[in-house]
Amino acid sequence: MRILSIETSCDETAIAVVVCSGGAEAPVFSVRAHVVATQIATHRPFGGVVPSLAKREHLLNLPLAYAEVLEQLKVAGCEAKFDRIAVTVGPGLEPALWTGINFAKDLGEKLGVPVVGVNHLEGHMYSNWLDVELAKKIQFPAVVLLVSGGHTALVVMDSMQSWRKLGETQDDAVGEAFDKVAKMLGLPYPGGPEVEKLAREGNPDAIAFPRPMLHSGDFNFSFSGLKTSVLYHTKAHPDASVPDVCASFQKAAIDVLVTKTMRAAEENGTQSVLVCGGVASNAALSVELKKRAEDAGMEFFAPAMQYNGDNAVMIAAASYLSAGIPTEKALPNLNI
Ligand code: KG4
Ligand code: ZN
Repeated sequence: MRILSIETSCDETAIAVVVCSGGAEAPVFSVRAHVVATQIATHRPFGGVVPSLAKREHLLNLPLAYAEVLEQLKVAGCEAKFDRIAVTVGPGLEPALWTGINFAKDLGEKLGVPVVGVNHLEGHMYSNWLDVELAKKIQFPAVVLLVSGGHTALVVMDSMQSWRKLGETQDDAVGEAFDKVAKMLGLPYPGGPEVEKLAREGNPDAIAFPRPMLHSGDFNFSFSGLKTSVLYHTKAHPDASVPDVCASFQKAAIDVLVTKTMRAAEENGTQSVLVCGGVASNAALSVELKKRAEDAGMEFFAPAMQYNGDNAVMIAAASYLSAGIPTEKALPNLNI
């Protein structure tokens, strides 16, 4: 099945063409075209994503990204024929989502191809199946730590098509906390990679930041208090070493994420621990989670770097593999 996929839930305009085969039992994905047009430069002056600007940029970028996809297909000698158009329908920024949905619907009508909606969170989850050889080793039940700028959740997948959320953040997503801490420290948006870079030069034990909800007994998270502690600390100690603040904040966040993920894995009898989402690019997180999983006799999986952040390849994979669990916060009047 040849899927054209579209992702516009946040600040990346992404379109891909992926040939999917093998079914949910032995899926194989072959990427034929892939474009990600990032809006980072547009949002950077504001220190975060501005929904109205995201919408404007998506509207500008969608036709350009589609033209680029057609060009990539042509160069690869592939026909521009699709069996399905898959588009992210949520969760995400509503004005941004609608640009992709409307583009998909128009294209579907023009080409006579059915349009299906995809849950963005499932996109991140199934990005772990894009590497065919690695994915063969994933065993169910699998625990998935989903960490991005908009979401932080722990999920158990009982099979390829059935999953349940164990817990999620009660306030800020962990990526959002990285971004806000970066902003306090005068670092550019998106802050995650900047904080990680500086943390490498700092002492992670320099400041004892809190580990919110570490012992809450459930699988929920909270990062807003941690972010506020960083704010108070930097106000009280204006001369504090920025690398030490970054390293100590990062360690506090990772401690909570890894401890809860491992407890979820143990309580659910898991052999496979997966991570996904933009924050999965954080090497300190993946190194620690891998170590803890392997110490417990489990195997650790992470997507290839280019599929951690928002992209359309993962949306094609989710459209192919998922049972189509209705998206949370589904958009009103969504008639696809
Ligand atoms: O998955 P993603 O591209 O978009 C959402 O669905 O939200 O994630 C973006 C988030 C941003 O908050 C960014 O700061 C964070 O991922 N991020 C990182 C790193 N790289 C990206 N956070 C910590 N360390 C990183 N290396
Ligand atoms: Zn995302």
